[in-house]
Amino acid sequence: NLEESIRPHSFDEYIGQKDLKDVLSIVIEAAKTRNEPMDHLLLYGPPGLGKTTISLILASEMGVNCKITAAPALERPRDITGLLVNLKPGDILFIDEIHRLNRLTEELLYPAMEDYRLEITIGKGQAARTRSIPLPKFTLVGATTKVGSLTSPLRDRFGLIQRLKFYDPEELALIIKRTAKLLNTSITEQGSQEIGRRSRGTPRIANRLLRRVRDYIQVKKFDTITQELAAEALNIYQVDPQGLDWTDRLILETMITQFDGGPVGLEAVAAATGEDAKTIEEVYEPYLLQIGYINRTPRGRVVTTAAYQHLGKTGEQQLSIFS
Ligand code: ADE
Repeated sequence: NLEESIRPHSFDEYIGQKDLKDVLSIVIEAAKTRNEPMDHLLLYGPPGLGKTTISLILASEMGVNCKITAAPALERPRDITGLLVNLKPGDILFIDEIHRLNRLTEELLYPAMEDYRLEITIGKGQAARTRSIPLPKFTLVGATTKVGSLTSPLRDRFGLIQRLKFYDPEELALIIKRTAKLLNTSITEQGSQEIGRRSRGTPRIANRLLRRVRDYIQVKKFDTITQELAAEALNIYQVDPQGLDWTDRLILETMITQFDGGPVGLEAVAAATGEDAKTIEEVYEPYLLQIGYINRTPRGRVVTTAAYQHLGKTGEQQLSIFS
């Protein structure tokens, strides 16, 4: 599939996240020298920044397999035990959205992570017996958008906790050029920069926008993505020059027109926009915070002057009502 074919397969191919790559290179080399699996790793940060990709690269650099799952798929105890007993020594188990594990599954993970043991209860009531089954040594890579939602016993069992950061526009332009090559699409330097600027710091969005622009030039019968064509196409898709999409703008406009720019609570914004509160919090808000268009205060979210300016409104106009 397309997603798979454009993923980088080694740290050499992987663009950006330099600090993280530096840390992981050392951890990998040390583990390989000791001939041991890597310590358990918790990756956190907004969606689309490469948490799964990094896990796959770690596996390939360690020369092991990577089993990929997500917390919502681990409903019954036998879902996680089935995965654990089938691991080969050194394998990586990647659990996405790890903050959403249920309690039973999470408690099975504690001895598995700590001592490579599976503690299971057989039978019920008086006849219940626990059995301890040895597991192969493995590495758990957990990924989450909400590190604060992990219980501390789970968080404490990760030897390494690392955050992925938003990419800068230059890094995104490099990623776009790389993907364009893999898609056999011709793109100019300025074209890749234009898409990079509109990608909200996120490679997944960069690659998605690239495909939309590629559709556009194909239909319009151009053979190269230029800055003008990229801008034209992305305007049609309602991705503005800062990368804000229709929903970002709706959130900001709603905060301004219905709540005087805030402070306003997340739930109130969700109700007024018809968007899901979790989606606002995990998908939209991190980037709006990053570019300084909203701030969080103890009393709620506020829209900044920069956002007013971007939307063609001025914060001063708001204030002048009161003066
Ligand atoms: N595709 C998606 N993310 C990437 C990255 N960080 N480096 C290279 N290609 C990518």
